[in-house]
Amino acid sequence: MKKNGVPLNPGATSPRPSPPLRGGAGEGVACLQFGRFIMKNLFARIRPVKLTVAALSLGWVFLPYPASARPQTITPGEIWPDNRGQHVQAHGGGILKHGKTYYWFGEDRSQGLSRSNRYVACYSSTDLAHWTFRNQVVKISDPENLGRGWVLERPKVYYNAPTKKFVLYAHIDDRRYKFASVAVFTGDKIDGDYQYIKSFRPLNHESRDIGQFIDDDGTAYLIFEDRPFGFRIAKLSKDYLGIEKEMCLIPQHMEGGALVHYGGLYYVIGSALTGWSPNPNKYATATKLEGPWSEFKDIAPPEAHTYGSQSTMMLKVAGTKATTVIFMGDIWKPWTQWDSRYLWMPAEIGGGKLHLPEPKAWELDVKTGEVAIKKSE
Ligand code: DGJ
Repeated sequence: MKKNGVPLNPGATSPRPSPPLRGGAGEGVACLQFGRFIMKNLFARIRPVKLTVAALSLGWVFLPYPASARPQTITPGEIWPDNRGQHVQAHGGGILKHGKTYYWFGEDRSQGLSRSNRYVACYSSTDLAHWTFRNQVVKISDPENLGRGWVLERPKVYYNAPTKKFVLYAHIDDRRYKFASVAVFTGDKIDGDYQYIKSFRPLNHESRDIGQFIDDDGTAYLIFEDRPFGFRIAKLSKDYLGIEKEMCLIPQHMEGGALVHYGGLYYVIGSALTGWSPNPNKYATATKLEGPWSEFKDIAPPEAHTYGSQSTMMLKVAGTKATTVIFMGDIWKPWTQWDSRYLWMPAEIGGGKLHLPEPKAWELDVKTGEVAIKKSE
């Protein structure tokens, strides 16, 4: 979305182009295996028996799917066509699993939309690879009179069972990012039209990028960037329309915050504050959300700048054979936002470590939770 060739919030952007990704492998891949990066960095360090255990626990399989059952490949950095053949518009997004279906919500930055409105799109999928466009669940014109270039970013949807409402949180701001609040919308149907309820500052703190986390016990949390202090994890109130309490303040200046609970540990990730430009995203761990949190470490070689992406969510897929954690990131194109891409890769996670492997085309079996990464060509 841009006006006269300038992104709507130019003060906060950087036009630096994303580093090119090595595209995915072509069709007809017969043998699925780890890529060269893993070979060099992981195989070299662990003995075969340990590797087998690590691979199994990560749900990585080495055998090809039979051609008939082969799921569609997820190819980081490529155009991701929906059921209409249009590139998915779910930037800065999040996923809610409802029943057996995954719903992907995100910023709709399609070309040709009204410049005074902001839009959130919703897609559905049962395999996380094929996405069906459902609805533009939010189409709204500046509810807080924030003026030209107002911002509605990083929408995330929760389902509140007691009220049977779907509750959508987003970052709402003016073009200079001074309003720094969350917007709350509700809907009766997951892919219906959502109504604007209010905006507020969680715990009376500044809030810019937001992230969503639903723990294994169903408790819902909001992660929000609080510029003067770092970022916070807060538990939502019973009806999800407000905050019940703060879980922790992590005094690290990070945005794009995301959390996953895996193997008895919480892993939090986030990016540095570099506008639309990619940077080395980092992670820390804790046994409780209250902390103490470990020191932050890079999720990938720092010079790769998270392979040109920025974190938005970590999605845990617990299958019958393996549990896979998907790193979901955005590859922003600030001057052509509608063409911004997605970097989804299974994270190598466990034992307090989290590593984002080099992007390659991959396949996921959502039933078993197993992942197969295609061989580089
Ligand atoms: C980084 C944030 O993560 C994005 O959501 C967006 O707000 C940009 N900053 C704007 O520069």
